[in-house]
Amino acid sequence: MNLLVPYQSPPEKDSMLGRLMTLLVNKGIFVQSEAGYQLTPASELILTEGSNMGANLRFTTYAEVIKIWSRLSEVFMESGERSLFEKAFDGKKFWEFTKEKPEYGKLFDNAMASLSNAVMRGLIASYPHIFDGLNSLVDVGGGTGTAVKFIAGAFPNLKCTVFDLPHVVAKALKSESFDVVGGDMFEKILPADAIFLKNVLHDWNDEDCVQILKRCKEAIESNNNGGKVIVVDIIIGFESNDPKTTETSLLFDITMMGLVGSKERSKQEWHDIIIRSGYSDYKFYPVQLGIYSVIELYP
Ligand SMILES: C[S@@+](CC[C@H](N)C(=O)[O-])C[C@H]1O[C@@H](n2cnc3c(N)ncnc32)[C@H](O)[C@@H]1O
Repeated sequence: MNLLVPYQSPPEKDSMLGRLMTLLVNKGIFVQSEAGYQLTPASELILTEGSNMGANLRFTTYAEVIKIWSRLSEVFMESGERSLFEKAFDGKKFWEFTKEKPEYGKLFDNAMASLSNAVMRGLIASYPHIFDGLNSLVDVGGGTGTAVKFIAGAFPNLKCTVFDLPHVVAKALKSESFDVVGGDMFEKILPADAIFLKNVLHDWNDEDCVQILKRCKEAIESNNNGGKVIVVDIIIGFESNDPKTTETSLLFDITMMGLVGSKERSKQEWHDIIIRSGYSDYKFYPVQLGIYSVIELYP
């Protein structure tokens, strides 16, 4: 275990800091020893470069956005479909806000990249066969390219492309191992053997998901080489038996409800949108990636 870097807070804060640390020790975030406070695996996650869950904490606790939760009860007292975010921001949608507020957009992109850092190596190690036989892959809603960086690194002969909104790909990682293209997934998606959708469909309601999945199907079919869609997302109730994993999935569900008015889906809900989008078959892979599952969709 690493020792924390010493920081000297003003002496009049010692008592308050001590009380806070007592709680955090009790929660297993730190351990106390004669040498001082030490990190535990939980607090190491926040600091580690590789996963850096601190980026997620900074994103989810952003002061201007966290206040939406104080309006939660109001949502249940009015009719209409506005999300909590839209209600709190006078109709503004989450994606407009991330675009208009670059500081928050950056926090969001970093948080997504940190989740990709945490799961992509495991995904490729657990399911290498899902990339077998592919010549091209487009990561739709691929953010700044962290997931594709792992895929292109593991499969150098696979032509990989990150596809996201123009203002997002403008900030994408620069690499010779993948291309970066800006566009709107509701309009047209680049043709490829495989469309990769990680943490994307849970941002959208069922109608929108059907539109996105139809665009994906068109992109695969126009490529004339068989092909499939690879979805990485939560499947509620399909997690491991670890109650913490289930709790995390349910917390994500409520987070999606609040931020974008969408949801995490059960197996049945995934089945419904996949079949409505015109796919002939699909396959669920059991969770080996913390809260995430993989679904392959075949046109
Ligand atoms: C939750 S993030 C997931 C990012 C990435 N796939 C990952 O797993 O880290 C959703 C992404 O969808 C992108 N997005 C939202 N609307 C889009 C659209 N209309 N067309 C393309 N991408 C879009 C966002 O910019 C964002 O990068």
